[in-house]
Amino acid sequence: MKNQNILVVGATGRVGREMLSILQEIGVPAQNIGVVASERSVGQTILYGKNSLEVKDINSINFSEYDYALFSAGSAVSAKYTPKVAESGCIVVDNTSFFRMKEDIPLIVPEINFDYLERYNSKIISNPNCSTIQMVMVLKPLHDTFGLQEVVVSTYQATSGAGQKGVDELMEQTELVLHGKTATSHHFKRQIAFNIIPQIDEFSSSGYTKEELKMMNETKKILDKSDIIITATCVRVPVIVGHAVSVFAQFDKPVDIQLAYQVLSNFPGVKIIDNPERYEYATPIDCASKNDVYVSRLRKHPDMENALSFWCVADNVRKGAALNAIQIVQRLVAQR
Ligand code: A2P
Repeated sequence: MKNQNILVVGATGRVGREMLSILQEIGVPAQNIGVVASERSVGQTILYGKNSLEVKDINSINFSEYDYALFSAGSAVSAKYTPKVAESGCIVVDNTSFFRMKEDIPLIVPEINFDYLERYNSKIISNPNCSTIQMVMVLKPLHDTFGLQEVVVSTYQATSGAGQKGVDELMEQTELVLHGKTATSHHFKRQIAFNIIPQIDEFSSSGYTKEELKMMNETKKILDKSDIIITATCVRVPVIVGHAVSVFAQFDKPVDIQLAYQVLSNFPGVKIIDNPERYEYATPIDCASKNDVYVSRLRKHPDMENALSFWCVADNVRKGAALNAIQIVQRLVAQR
C-alpha cells in the first residue's frame, strides 16, 4: 500500500476519519493521502500521525493523481463525482448506497466474494451496508455448510451509523435530559437519548424502511442467492459505536451446532464469544475499535432441526464501513 495514492472523500466525517486512522495504522505515508470534505471544511487541517493534511475542495482535485478514491460523503456526492473519478483511471470504493444494487457494480465483502470482481469490469466498487456486512460474515460459512433458506433479522444500530451528526445528537440530548431539559430532535425522527427508534432511513411504499430493504437485497447479492427469504427490522439505539444484529436463520439441512461453531471459528474475520453461563457474550462496547465480527448466543431451535439463532456485534464504522473499504483496496493492491 506504500506507493498507492489514496483520496479520502468525506475525510472529516465519522467514516472518513476512521479510514484515515486505519490507513495510518497500516503504514500509508501522509504524502500519499489526499483529503476532501465539504466547502465549510476546505482549508482546515486533519492530523495524520505527526503530519497535517489540508482539506481540499473536490473540484480542485486532479483524480488521475490517485490510484484509489474512498468515498463516504453521501450518495449525492458519489453520484455526481465517482463516474468522473473512474474515467480518470482511479478505482473508487464507494461507501454510500448509491451504486450497491446496480447490476454492473460489484458489492464486495472481501472475505466472502472478492472473486466476484472478475465478473465485473468496473472501476467503481460498492461497500455494503454496515449491518449487512456483519450479518453476512456470519451467514456465509453457515450457508456454505447448511444451505441458507430464510432469515429473520432485527438490528440494534448505533448512532455513528448516521455519521457524526447522529453521535452529536445522542450526546446533546443525553446532556439535556440529565439536566431536566427537553431534548429536541434534528436528525433522528424521535428522541434517541434514553429511547430506541424503529426507523432507520426513510420508509418505502412497502412499509419496510430503506435500511431494511438494503439488508434484504444486499444479502442476496453478496451471497449470490436471489431466492433467500429475508425480513429485516432495523432499530436505532442510543449507542455510539457497535451495531448488534439478532438473527434467526433456516437452512436446507439439519444444523449440527458443533459444526456451526467449527466453520465459524475457521472463517477469517469472525470471532466467537459464547459462554453464556459465564455471562460471556459480545456487546457493542467490547467491539468498538476492533476489526473482527463477533458472534455469540449461537443456539439451535428446540423444535426446528434446520434452524438456529445467533447474536452478532461489530464496530459499524470499522468492518461495517472504513475497514471493509480498505480491505478491498489492500486485496486489489496485492493482486496487481
Ligand atoms: P464536512 O465535515 O465539511 O461537512 P458524516 O457522515 O460523519 O456526517 O460525514 C460526512 C462527510 O462528507 C464529511 O466529511 C463532510 O464534510 C463530507 N461532505 C458532505 N458534503 C460534501 C460535499 N459536497 N463534498 C465533499 N464532501 C462532503
